[in-house]
Amino acid sequence: MTDECFQHPRLAAIHDALDPDRGDLDAYVRIAEQLGARRVLDIGCGTGVFALLLADRGVEVVGVDPAGASVDVARGKPGGERVRWIRGDVTALPPLQVDLATMTANVAQAIVDPGAWDATLRGAYTSLRPGGHLVFETRDPARRAWTEWNREDSHRVTDVPGVGAVESWVEVTDVSLPLVSFRWTYVFAADGQVLTSDSTLRFREREEVGADLAARGFVVDDVREAPDRPGREFVFLGRRPPEG
Ligand SMILES: C[S@@+](CC[C@H](N)C(=O)[O-])C[C@H]1O[C@@H](n2cnc3c(N)ncnc32)[C@H](O)[C@@H]1O
Repeated sequence: MTDECFQHPRLAAIHDALDPDRGDLDAYVRIAEQLGARRVLDIGCGTGVFALLLADRGVEVVGVDPAGASVDVARGKPGGERVRWIRGDVTALPPLQVDLATMTANVAQAIVDPGAWDATLRGAYTSLRPGGHLVFETRDPARRAWTEWNREDSHRVTDVPGVGAVESWVEVTDVSLPLVSFRWTYVFAADGQVLTSDSTLRFREREEVGADLAARGFVVDDVREAPDRPGREFVFLGRRPPEG
């Protein structure tokens, strides 16, 4: 099960319009270029923004996500035929030997269940060629990002071409650390439909993520800041050892 905001067709269709600034992906594109990655697995590809950025650069990309409606949106975009899209989690992947696996936009936090998280790291590892890299971000719990997730700060009305005005806001519904739950509400002006989407994220400490990666055989080469969100994120650069 994934959140309604990713799996409901009407919400998946407006996802990009409601989150148009994807400057967060620039750093990932740069890392892929610096690593000379020719084959990339994008885990939790969502509506495919990052996968398509790479495919435009001639990279062979596999995008996997359990939210079918988001994968449908991705597949239908210009250039979508250049990416191999798979609906599911990492357990749905065929054998791969990619140079780089990614989880952009805090996908790691959306994988709440410890067993699913472990399976994701295992799946990433086996999908990488020996020496291949895994790059992903996760919010630093110490920054308590959820304290900013409130109606006052998040409320906006977005004019979505072909859809009309959509009012949206987020509210935190529960904080039971390391889990934080919140609800997005969407109101479609065209017909008055109100949709809600409930999400839970897991906030993992830096040491915990490092230990999880090590337990699955990864070497951690670096833990960086996200350049567009300084001090807020841990960006992990893991590597499958060449002999692994
Ligand atoms: C915040 S979105 C990010 C989407 C995309 N990476 C981006 O940058 O736009 C989080 C995504 O994680 C996906 N997701 C949730 N659980 C997952 C899992 N177990 N494996 C892979 N993806 C998952 C959701 O369906 C959703 O598309």
